[in-house]
Amino acid sequence: MTDVSEIAATLRALLPRAHAPYSGVQVACAVEGADGTIHHGVNVENAAYPQGLCAEASAISAAVTQGTARLTRVYVASSLPGLVWPCGGCRQKIFEFACEGCEVIALGPDGEAWRQTIEQLLPSGFRLDPAQVRRS
Ligand code: THU
Repeated sequence: MTDVSEIAATLRALLPRAHAPYSGVQVACAVEGADGTIHHGVNVENAAYPQGLCAEASAISAAVTQGTARLTRVYVASSLPGLVWPCGGCRQKIFEFACEGCEVIALGPDGEAWRQTIEQLLPSGFRLDPAQVRRS
């Protein structure tokens, strides 16, 4: 299993790379694949606010780009004083790439690490079976 304190240190070091001039909230995320690889992302805001990218979305994008699409763990750290759990949209994104029981680990500024499974964070998540999507 990956060393949580090592990941926490890496995410703390990545926080200054977040591009968050509008909210001032820096978020960094690491996702761990079933293949053991780890991919990172930070939030990237832009002036058209809804188009901003959450850190989780950036990390998932990096993982998928490298061919890793089954996640076993998701770690999140932020510049806020408390713990940050993924927003609703990111819970759905994680859910769609998660192995069953995928852990989401919120890392606090003082070394705290709180875990919940994605099923706890998003019970009855939305699943779309591509075979059932009608294309005209
Ligand atoms: N943010 C994330 O990166 N992840 C979350 O799960 C919650 C929110 C970002 C979005 C925005 O750039 C900033 O935090 C403040 O909402």
